[in-house]
Amino acid sequence: MQVKELIFATNNENKVKEIKSVVGENLVVISLKDAGIDQDIPEPHHTLEANATEKSTVIHELTQKNCFSEDTGLEVFALHGEPGVKSARYAGEGRDFQANIDKLLEKLTDQDNRSAQFRTVISLIWEGREYLFEGICKGRINEIQQGVEGFGYDPIFIPDGAEKTFAEMTLAEKNEFSHRKKATTQLIDFLNKNI
Ligand code: IMP
Repeated sequence: MQVKELIFATNNENKVKEIKSVVGENLVVISLKDAGIDQDIPEPHHTLEANATEKSTVIHELTQKNCFSEDTGLEVFALHGEPGVKSARYAGEGRDFQANIDKLLEKLTDQDNRSAQFRTVISLIWEGREYLFEGICKGRINEIQQGVEGFGYDPIFIPDGAEKTFAEMTLAEKNEFSHRKKATTQLIDFLNKNI
């Protein structure tokens, strides 16, 4: 089978590592850093879909190459979907993981309903056309943070069917549940079937 190359429009090295761990041998993922692109990509919109499209479009216009982006949010039901599209900047422009966790735990003090989900939207631009894929991981917000692996809200998120947080899992274990893995699997299936 032909090997396909795709630029991944992100500056988040954790996401690059996670996606590279699930794509297999037929797809070569090139990070912005590896492509020599040093650009902060805007996320100005109110939905994950629109931000994902913005990111892939900016990089496609810059490179004219096939590329994809992803936008992920943590949606907490008791907070009507917050932090959602604002997940990275929940506690301010500093994009501070710890401050975001502190703010979320504070908001959920004495809250019995701790249901939440991670939702990832991937925007693929292939041969000038856009395709969207979605991956959801349902779970709950733990009362305290546990574990040191991963990034972002991993230390407080326990996926349904697990007894520990994402931050207490190896990458392989996280991939058994992960929103990003589910969306990436759809991307790979699409490339294998349709292109
Ligand atoms: P964005 O997709 O780069 O806007 O990321 C949004 C924010 O969601 C990140 O800064 C993280 O705080 C959080 N996030 C995204 N994916 C994950 C994940 O897999 N685990 C934990 N937090 C995540």
